[in-house]
Amino acid sequence: MAKGNPFGIHRVVEPLGVMPQAAKRLDNDMGSIRDNEILVDVERLNIDAASFTQLEEEGERDTTKIAGLIKKIVKERGKMHNPITGSGGMFIGAVRQVGKDLASRDLKPGDKIASLVSLTLTPLALKRIKKIDLEKDQVEVEGQAVLFESGVYAKLPADLPDRLSLALLDVAGAPAQTARLVKPGDAALVIGGGGKSGLLCLYEAKKRAGVTGRVIGLGHSASSTERIRESGFADLAIQGDASKPLEVYEKILEVTDGKLMDVTINCVNVPGTEMASIMSTREGGIVYFFTMATSFTAAALGAEGIGKDVNMIIGNGFAKGHDRIAFELMRESPKLRALFERMFL
Ligand SMILES: NC(=O)c1ccc[n+]([C@@H]2O[C@H](COP(=O)([O-])OP(=O)(O)OC[C@H]3O[C@@H](n4cnc5c(N)ncnc54)[C@H](OP(=O)(O)O)[C@@H]3O)[C@@H](O)[C@H]2O)c1
Repeated sequence: MAKGNPFGIHRVVEPLGVMPQAAKRLDNDMGSIRDNEILVDVERLNIDAASFTQLEEEGERDTTKIAGLIKKIVKERGKMHNPITGSGGMFIGAVRQVGKDLASRDLKPGDKIASLVSLTLTPLALKRIKKIDLEKDQVEVEGQAVLFESGVYAKLPADLPDRLSLALLDVAGAPAQTARLVKPGDAALVIGGGGKSGLLCLYEAKKRAGVTGRVIGLGHSASSTERIRESGFADLAIQGDASKPLEVYEKILEVTDGKLMDVTINCVNVPGTEMASIMSTREGGIVYFFTMATSFTAAALGAEGIGKDVNMIIGNGFAKGHDRIAFELMRESPKLRALFERMFL
């Protein structure tokens, strides 16, 4: 079949003229792919944490109801793009067909890959939902997806279980960005530090801040705070609710002798935590919003409202080489790997 647009614009059904990510609906016909598309038999979806939390709430933690919500979204939109949170996730699967224009790629039918582009722009058709894992935000499915010519993917490494790789790749942008932001001697705070991206960021932040720096992990529940403590990646683990900015601010003031943080990384999966991040950061410091529940308006107007001059960074899910960085973290730290195996296997 003819060549499609490299960014997948030929799959946009409505509204015409927008990119696939912004589209309300994509064409998810898997019958015949374009010469520059890749067709994949999808085995497992890793639903983005903010989206999964919303689906769990709407579906009252009932897997049949949640499956119904997922099927409805994919049927209506041709992609797993949660209309409420606006977020997606990613998939793993086996390559079924590589369009002839992409024949020079190191990819052949049967290769196991993970998508590194969001499900919010990936044409997806689901035949069946086999199982929903409420603890891991993962959904076993029978379905197919299309990757565009510009779509990035990772071949799954042989030395890591697929489920672990999927969990890792979902949040691989976070530790890669942390590595760029945290400098030797920095005081860094990871909000939601006991979660999936949070633990990776804590580990990377400590590595970068070094012995002269200080890393603080803020957990929410007692169990995630204990996970931070147990990891040993943070110099200090504290418990708090990031949707209560004043409480968090006062704690951070106290434990930093009023200096606040040089870098704050927000890895929370619920809305309303912008101000805790901004207030915990010193003048001229950096706030990195990895969370998809971030409101641009709340962050921008909130910082202005308290006269706080901080550099705020949107958590781009993609950073060059982030997949290899994330896999390498598992090999580098047996402790991190053990924690992830416990959480995701
Ligand atoms: N920027 C990107 O490209 C990108 C890519 C993937 C994911 N994300 C986003 O990154 C965020 C984190 O994802 P994840 O997979 O790491 O999630 P996760 O494993 O579910 O971790 C979220 C953490 O947030 C904590 N938390 C929840 N409410 C809190 C509160 N009020 N105060 C402080 N901490 C709170 C949770 O602690 P408890 O368990 O103790 O409640 C949990 O440890 C999500 O919003 C997700 O959408 C972004």
